[in-house]
Amino acid sequence: MCGIIAYTGHRPSVPVLIQGLKSLEYRGYDSAGLSFVHMNKLHLFRASGKLEALESKLDTGAVIHATSGIGHTRWATHGLPNEINAHPHLDHNSDLALVHNGIIENFQELKAEFADCGLAFRSETDTEVLVCLIAKGMERHGDMRQAISWALRQVEGSFAFALISRSNPGTIWAARRSSPLIFGQGTGENFVASDIPAFLPFTREVVFLEDDELVEMTSNEWRIFNSLTLEPVTKKVQTIAWDVQAAQKGGYRHFMLKEIFEQPQVIADCLAGRVDRETKGVVLKELESLQVPKRLHIIACGTSYHAGLWGKYVMESLAGIPVDVEIASEFRYKPLIHDPSKIYLFISQSGETADTLAALYLVKKQGGITLGLCNVLGSSLAREAHHVVYTQAGPEISVASTKAMCSQLALIFLITLYWARHNLSLDSKAIEEAVCAFEDLPDMLSKTLEHTRNTATRICKSYSEVRSFFFLGRGLYFPLALEGALKLKEISYIHAEGYAAGELKHGPIALIEPDLPTFALALKDDLLGKVKSNLKEIQARKGKIIALTQPGSELDVNDVWEIPVTWGPLNSFFVLPALQLFAYETAVYLGKDVDQPRNLAKSVTVE
Ligand code: G6P
Repeated sequence: MCGIIAYTGHRPSVPVLIQGLKSLEYRGYDSAGLSFVHMNKLHLFRASGKLEALESKLDTGAVIHATSGIGHTRWATHGLPNEINAHPHLDHNSDLALVHNGIIENFQELKAEFADCGLAFRSETDTEVLVCLIAKGMERHGDMRQAISWALRQVEGSFAFALISRSNPGTIWAARRSSPLIFGQGTGENFVASDIPAFLPFTREVVFLEDDELVEMTSNEWRIFNSLTLEPVTKKVQTIAWDVQAAQKGGYRHFMLKEIFEQPQVIADCLAGRVDRETKGVVLKELESLQVPKRLHIIACGTSYHAGLWGKYVMESLAGIPVDVEIASEFRYKPLIHDPSKIYLFISQSGETADTLAALYLVKKQGGITLGLCNVLGSSLAREAHHVVYTQAGPEISVASTKAMCSQLALIFLITLYWARHNLSLDSKAIEEAVCAFEDLPDMLSKTLEHTRNTATRICKSYSEVRSFFFLGRGLYFPLALEGALKLKEISYIHAEGYAAGELKHGPIALIEPDLPTFALALKDDLLGKVKSNLKEIQARKGKIIALTQPGSELDVNDVWEIPVTWGPLNSFFVLPALQLFAYETAVYLGKDVDQPRNLAKSVTVE
């Protein structure tokens, strides 16, 4: 994620930047920094940790004189969250300073070209390569717009950046591709930032920048260009009606809703840099030093455990790798039968869950190979596991996990394809087909989410008074049924049980009656016929049914809820938000505290 802000105007810039960064901290907070020009010198302040650490360093006189500058709050993706890797980054001559949100996918190749010229880098970041590339463009073209355009024609990946130059104080350049960037028009002052709350106290007049647009601004002027051709672009200034609190949630009523709607971006971010553009093969550098496992043992808690269960179905069917999945709090108190052919995979959004960490230490002590799959860079899991892959979902604020699970499924799917290729269980054509479908998914998903929400809002009303619910699924939809039940319990406090559809007849069916509805995952796969039979058994006992299904499945139940069709297991990425939105809309309808449900914690660091 990361948050960026830039300001040029008539006020002292540092307080404006700090205030902006505070409202962007939800985008990351492992380090922060800012930079401005004063007396022909670039001043740079950076600190690891939260913003207060940066504020305590701002003790020079120059701070009160600056009236422009750039700031950054970081969610580390490349390099540890320390001061050296904190933004802004400078070019080799310390003429330019740049803050960046995104991932420059080809930064290693670009970096190698600099190394050939004998130029060393100070940090491990992809960002430093970008600022050095723009500086190289300046040497060639002598004009900043030309330099930026030249550089951006060479970079691959996603970015939103803001740039200042020692020789041009008061001017700021900013551009984007696949990462958010918004321009704010003030009176005698102008802003750009990753999100509107960063400058909302100063202006409500905004321009939403599109991909490959570059803004050049001073305190009184601003112009927008196509960053590749440098042709001027005419943009409409819009007036935002949000108040500051609503703006932190991006205009959404709750963080949970915002995070559900961020899932298309989460999938795109998880894919960033992990697909070879030509062969469509999966590139996972983090796994290169790891042998393809003969067996996989997944250990996790809560929603991450459900992601692991889903992974079992996908990994076994596509990569042919047998998988065991266990709840960490159970695993840690059992005798560990060591099997050297196994890899132990620990899944955790936070990387700090006490039970998951205890299980990790146990496996390490017995000499097992450990792989961490987590969201928070530099977390205990990330530091302690032998190998780590990051989900790159950005901070999740709502206690009920939504986008983190989406990112876990996305990454597990990529790992499956990666190992399937090495195992020869899928040929390159099948992998290409899967990867192409995956690349299309963010767009497909973002087009359907609003409709999914409207359906959830409509359907949930007839069921919100019930005391209990079943969620049923088969195959890889069984773990999602567990997750659907968990989400409903967590935020609406309606009791819900997730069950394997075929298991209902072995006991739970005794509970079926008109007041105990079933939410069935009845997707059009090989098991649809079996699920239909299970639903008949429920209807015979007068149980009401909501069926999440796809066009053509011909289901005759109380509520048929159709979602789009895509490639194989990727259909799960439409199922998951439907379940999340059903729980969300039910909780909202019942007036519950959606973002902070009772008795729960986001990260459970105690046993
Ligand atoms: C808590 C949270 C859940 C989460 C679980 C595991 O119970 O409320 O949403 O799934 O911890 O957290 P982790 O950070 O390890 O994924």
